[in-house]
Amino acid sequence: MQVLVTGGLGFIGSNFIRHILGKYPQYNVTNLDKITYAGNPENLRDIEKNKNYSFVKGDICDAKIVDKLVEGKDIVLNFAAETHVDRSIDDPKRFIRTDVDGTHTLLEASRKHNIKKFIQVSTDEVYGSIEKGSFTEESALQPNSPYSASKAGGDLIARSYNKTFGVPVIITRSSNNFGQYQYPEKLLPLFITNLLEGKKVPVYGDGLNVRDWLYVIDNCEAIDFIMHKGAIGEIYNIGADNEKTNIEITKLLLSELGKDESSIEYVKDRPGHDRRYSINSSKLRKLGWRPRFKFEQALKDTVKWYKNNQNWWKKIKSGEYKEYYRKHYY
Ligand code: NAD
Ligand code: DAU
Repeated sequence: MQVLVTGGLGFIGSNFIRHILGKYPQYNVTNLDKITYAGNPENLRDIEKNKNYSFVKGDICDAKIVDKLVEGKDIVLNFAAETHVDRSIDDPKRFIRTDVDGTHTLLEASRKHNIKKFIQVSTDEVYGSIEKGSFTEESALQPNSPYSASKAGGDLIARSYNKTFGVPVIITRSSNNFGQYQYPEKLLPLFITNLLEGKKVPVYGDGLNVRDWLYVIDNCEAIDFIMHKGAIGEIYNIGADNEKTNIEITKLLLSELGKDESSIEYVKDRPGHDRRYSINSSKLRKLGWRPRFKFEQALKDTVKWYKNNQNWWKKIKSGEYKEYYRKHYY
């Protein structure tokens, strides 16, 4: 099986490639990644020399490279994206380029080369915010940030390539992931690493926004499951039913790291901040997938990983991220 993964040097993509190479020794994985600020070769150092793995530095918007790499592949999985909501508020264009145009470029090449499966890694954020109940795959898309609107664009173009041209697309929409190798701009790794550095954690607004947390390994297993058992043309929500307010998450981290509430700093709210995400993933569960990890244990393991891998995040935080952090919070 010849597999093309895009964005495989990022958080979920790198965990996914490690998972696939470990589970299917007969699969060859090519990783196409532009190495943006979020792409980090350190994330796959341990498998760099695996004979079934190869890396190509390149942009998913570059039709020439994409065409060359898609040719001869069986499956394309598109993880590559600009992913941070706050950055999309600063610079929407970059998100539209990669998340919409880049997805389209991959779909065109997949159409031309008759790819057997195209997995578009979308997000639950495309549904927007919900006060009560949970979104199903049938719910309307009402994205509220330039990030989620760009992801919705990529998601819908992928859908159209299935309906119009018969490209064998499957779309996944997962909830908030957490775990090892997540860039320390997102809530969990930012807060864990700040607390390890003895800094405060910036909670937006009243801290009562709700997110539905999913351990990254559960997401990788779900995408693997969908890639093998999912039906072409379908959309699958991936969630583990772990809804928590941001302040609940913050307090769990404070207690795990032996800190008190004086480490919390309430800061200005994110513009257009979605109040609550909640997805119903019974469609995928009926097919046979279940999350394997308990939230509390996965959170402890995640904190432990950041404690034990300080070189990994300290290098990031002392570089480009420092400027970003200064601009946003201090
Ligand atoms: P990430 O920001 O950690 O990594 C993104 C990767 O894509 C990086 O390696 C980056 O270098 C690469 N990339 C960016 N632009 C590129 C381009 N133009 N060409 C090639 N490579 C490019 O992201 P993540 O958190 O791992 O998310 C992966 C995917 O999963 C994204 O599509 C995201 O929308 C989706 N998703 C993420 C979450 C989450 O909680 N993190 C939840 C649901 C869906
Ligand atoms: O739901 C899936 C999405 O989850 C993915 O598609 C996105 O790529 C991913 O970034 C994530 O989006 P969120 O906006 O939910 O994640 P983030 O970690 O940025 O924020 C989580 C919550 O925490 C949100 O309510 C905002 C809040 N927050 C975030 C940061 C970075 C804070 O209060 N303080 C912060 O410093």
